[in-house]
Amino acid sequence: MNFELKALTAAGAAREKCDLLLVLVSDQAALGSDAIGAMVAHAVKQGDFALSCGKQLALYQVPAIAARRVLLVGLGAGSAKDVRNALAGCAAALKSEGVEKAVVSFAAEADATSVTAAVQALGDATYAYTHTKSQAKPIALKKIVLGVQGKTAALSAAFDMGVAQQEGVAVAREWANRPANHATPTMLANAAKSIAKAARMSCKIHGPAEVAKLGMGAFMAVAQGSREPLRFIELHYNGGAKSEAPIVLVGKGITFDTGGISLKPAAEMDEMKFDMGGAASVLGVFQALAKLQPAINVVGLIPACENMPDGAAVKPGDVVTSMSGQTIEILNTDAEGRLVLCDALHYAARFKPTAMVDMATLTGACVIALGGLRSGLFSADGELAAALQSAGDTAMDPCWRMPLDDEYAEGLKSNFADMGNVAGRAAGAVTAAKFLQKFVGDIPWAHLDIAGTAWKSGAAKGATGRPVGLLLQFLLNKAGSAKVAKPTKAVKTAAPRAAAPRRAASKARTTKAAV
Ligand code: BES
Ligand code: MN
Ligand code: ZN
Repeated sequence: MNFELKALTAAGAAREKCDLLLVLVSDQAALGSDAIGAMVAHAVKQGDFALSCGKQLALYQVPAIAARRVLLVGLGAGSAKDVRNALAGCAAALKSEGVEKAVVSFAAEADATSVTAAVQALGDATYAYTHTKSQAKPIALKKIVLGVQGKTAALSAAFDMGVAQQEGVAVAREWANRPANHATPTMLANAAKSIAKAARMSCKIHGPAEVAKLGMGAFMAVAQGSREPLRFIELHYNGGAKSEAPIVLVGKGITFDTGGISLKPAAEMDEMKFDMGGAASVLGVFQALAKLQPAINVVGLIPACENMPDGAAVKPGDVVTSMSGQTIEILNTDAEGRLVLCDALHYAARFKPTAMVDMATLTGACVIALGGLRSGLFSADGELAAALQSAGDTAMDPCWRMPLDDEYAEGLKSNFADMGNVAGRAAGAVTAAKFLQKFVGDIPWAHLDIAGTAWKSGAAKGATGRPVGLLLQFLLNKAGSAKVAKPTKAVKTAAPRAAAPRRAASKARTTKAAV
C-alpha cells in the first residue's frame, strides 16, 4: 500500500479527488461551516449519524465534495484505540471494487499516537491473504492519503513509524499465515536473506552441518524427525556505532508442530502452522528496521525446523546435550519450543547484548492464563520488563508481566539429566519460562509467550502480526526517536511481496545453506 501524509483542512478534504473519503469525527470535534462540517452537524442533528466509536454513515456523490463515495466515521472520544477500532470497521469499504484511491481525513487535530494507530489500522484492514488461493484477485486500492490539520515534524515521524510498522506487521502476518508446506525453514531463510538486502543489514544462514558443529543438541533433537532440513537464521542490523552492544531478538521458528512422538490430537492441529509466529515477528521487525534505519544495533536469531514423528524422531526419555553443555531429558516431545530456543539463547551470548528478548508461541497454558489480549511477559529484570510493558501499551500490542520465582523450577528436576523439559500441568507458562532462564546466564533477558496473541482461531482464523508493534516501539524507544541513522548505501527495502517467495504454483527455491 502506498501511504501519503497530507495537510488537509475540512475544506481541503472536500476538494480532494478520490474514490472514497473517510471522515473521522470524534465527539470533541468542533465542526465548521464548510461542506463536510455542515453535513456532519446536520446528520447528527437529524439522528442519522452518531459520533460514538465505529458508527458510520455512507453517502454518494455529495454536492461540494469531490470524492465519489463518502463515509462518515464516528470516533467516540477519539483516543488512538478508538481510531484503530473505528478504522477496523472500514475494511469492507476500503477493499470494495472501484476504490483505488482513498483519503482518510481527521476532522479535528490528531495526536502522534493516533496517526501511527491510523496507519497501522489501515494496513491491517487492507491486508488480504492470497498466496495459496488460485482465484484471488488483488484489492483495487493502491493509495491512501492520510489527512491531518497540520503536518508537523512529530506527526510526520509518527506517520513514518506507522508506515514501517504496518509493513512489518504485514510481513509477519503473511509468513505466519502461509501453510507449513509454503513456509518451510528454507523458505524462511530465503525471506530473511531478501529482507537483509537493505542498507546496514546482513544475514547468515546456518544449515544442519553448522548447527551440529556449534553443538546445538537440543535444537537438533527437535529437527531430527523431519525430512525438512533445519535452518538457524541470523540477521544483523547495524544502525548504531560499531562499539555499541546490540539487542538480540530470538523468535521460535517451528514451521509445524505435530507434537512429535508425543503427538497432538487431530482437532485444530492445522493451527500449528502458526508455531513460527515468533520467527515471523523477527522478520517483520527487520523489515521495519530496514525502512526506518534507526540508530541502534539489533541481532535477530531464528531457530527454524519442523517437529515431526518419525522413525528417526527423538523419543520421550531421550537425553540430549544443549549447546550450553547442560543435559536435558526430553520427557515430552511436544515441549519443543523451549528446546530450540535454549540453544539460540545460549548462542546469543556471543554478541554481548545489552538485552535479549525471545518471542514464542510457547504454551497452551499462557492462552488459558491471558487469552488473546495480552502476551505473557517474563523477566527477572524490572527495568527491561517495564520498558517492554510500556512499549506494548503505546503500540496497543500489550503484554502482562508474570512471575519467575525460583520455586517454579522445582518440577523441572530429572533423575537422568540436568533437567527435564517439562514440569507438571500447573503454571505451565511459568515453568516453560523457568526452563529458558537456565540458558540466559547473566544477560538481561525477557520472554514473550505469544501463544494467545500471534493468531486468531475460528471464523477470523489468521495471524495477527503481533508482537511486531511492541518490539518496534521498544527498539525505537531505545534508539531515541531523534537519532535516525543516515544510510551508508542506498536504502533498498524489500517490500512484503518482494520478500516473499513466488506464488503457490511456482516451485519453491531450495537454496542450500551457506555460511
Ligand atoms: N506450540 C505449542 C504451544 C501452543 C499450544 C500454542 C496451543 C498455541 C496453542 C507448544 O509447542 C506446546 O505444544 N506446548 C505444550 C507444552 C507441554 C507439553 C508442557 C502445551 O502447551 O501443551
Ligand atoms: Mn509443541
Ligand atoms: Zn510448539
